[in-house]
Amino acid sequence: MDQWTFELAGGDRPLFLRLADAVARDIRRGRLAPGDRLPGSRRVADQLGLHRNTVLAAWRELEREGWIETEAARGTFVARTLPELEVATRSRSSREAGFDVEAVATDWSPRPKGALPLLGGLPDLRHLPRTAIARAYRRALRRKGILDYGDPAGDPGLRRALAGRLAAARGLAVEPDAILVTRGSQMAFELVARAMLRPGDRVAVEALGYRPAWRALGSSGAELVPIRVDEQGIDVDRLEAALAEGPLRAIYLTPHHQYPTTATLSPARRMRLLRLAARHRVAVIEDDYDHEFHYEGRPVLPLGARDDHGVVIHVGTLSKVLAPAFRIGWVVAPSPLHDALVGARTFIDRMGDPAIEHAVGELIEEGELHRHTLRARRRYRRRRDAMVELLTEAFGDRLRFRVPRGGMALWARARGVDVDEWARRAEDMGVIVQSSRLFTFRGRPRRAVRLGYAALEPDELREAVRRLRRAWPGA
Ligand SMILES: Cc1ncc(COP(=O)(O)O)c(C=O)c1O
Repeated sequence: MDQWTFELAGGDRPLFLRLADAVARDIRRGRLAPGDRLPGSRRVADQLGLHRNTVLAAWRELEREGWIETEAARGTFVARTLPELEVATRSRSSREAGFDVEAVATDWSPRPKGALPLLGGLPDLRHLPRTAIARAYRRALRRKGILDYGDPAGDPGLRRALAGRLAAARGLAVEPDAILVTRGSQMAFELVARAMLRPGDRVAVEALGYRPAWRALGSSGAELVPIRVDEQGIDVDRLEAALAEGPLRAIYLTPHHQYPTTATLSPARRMRLLRLAARHRVAVIEDDYDHEFHYEGRPVLPLGARDDHGVVIHVGTLSKVLAPAFRIGWVVAPSPLHDALVGARTFIDRMGDPAIEHAVGELIEEGELHRHTLRARRRYRRRRDAMVELLTEAFGDRLRFRVPRGGMALWARARGVDVDEWARRAEDMGVIVQSSRLFTFRGRPRRAVRLGYAALEPDELREAVRRLRRAWPGA
């Protein structure tokens, strides 16, 4: 390859990752084939006007992900066995676009087979009531008209069931007609972006937070403004300061269990935040993704339950209490935004899957989902306790964390190590942990990791922690 050209898409990510993504993309597309030699790092650096260390860091990242291989004294080559061989083969046989395409990266990558996932967003799917779900789905399929075009706002039965559940478990009094069922919360964020955000709007987000939501909100061209978080959740003083600098159109936050730190937004901050939002007419996008899993005392009511001024857009999901694959989430928005969201939904998806929605509505009405949730809550609480004990035993004060009051993960500060190196070594030993870099606004590393405990049995947690200890750099 004579001239190395790349589109370093993904503006706010570190350069070396953007370069690594660009090379991986070229390999996937077939522009670079297995076995092809990459030009020397110095040459690439010169051509792209980058520092050589940036190129070397990108090469290391690509090697870690299995895209390239370095052979001593020979050079660097595209790996002969690619991590996503299927995709690579498919895209190689397809034609290159003869027009400009702006690359959109995803955060998703296949999980290494057999690895123990300490991933905070993952429920234990082995305990899902599959028989009851299958029965309800079979019944739903027999319903007349169920496979026809249906209501874009979602199956009416499911919306009734969700309204009952929101009232009982979250103190949210909503009419079924005010609920829009979405394919997971992710669609809700995308719809909010389409319906109400315009290029140049400012949207406040937690400076440590949930990147998929940022991406959806940012896709509108809105400017995301990171706001500091601490052990009481989002810092409302900083939010006020951001408001003083210019109007905010929306605030996106995870008040119940702040993602990723698990902090619960304090009552005083909640009240101030709602007052500020009402005064400045800012929409509050509340991501209430794991409300059910709170172990100490009563769950704090969502912001949506205290919304006297019609500023809260309440988003929820069944991905944690049921399973991510059903893609069932919802958004409760004040009118007329609700109608705009339903309208926007018809552009991209027409409607959800009425059969699975109806089946899940039935599972809720029958109390099956509630019973499953109670069992999962007890289980996850035991796992949290086990995890706390195991980590304390294995790491002592090398790892500092607060015992989370709820959720499916804990946020631990690691002393004296490079957490990315630790995470890499852990992965080599078959344990997946998420380094803080995945949650920081600019992708910069912090000395912390998020350790999920919900998806693994105590014995598996023990094994995972044992490996984590061995993976500790310098151990
Ligand atoms: C902060 C946060 N919001 C929402 C979700 C759920 O996403 P979805 O409903 O699209 O599956 C997750 C899942 O990981 C999450 O961590």
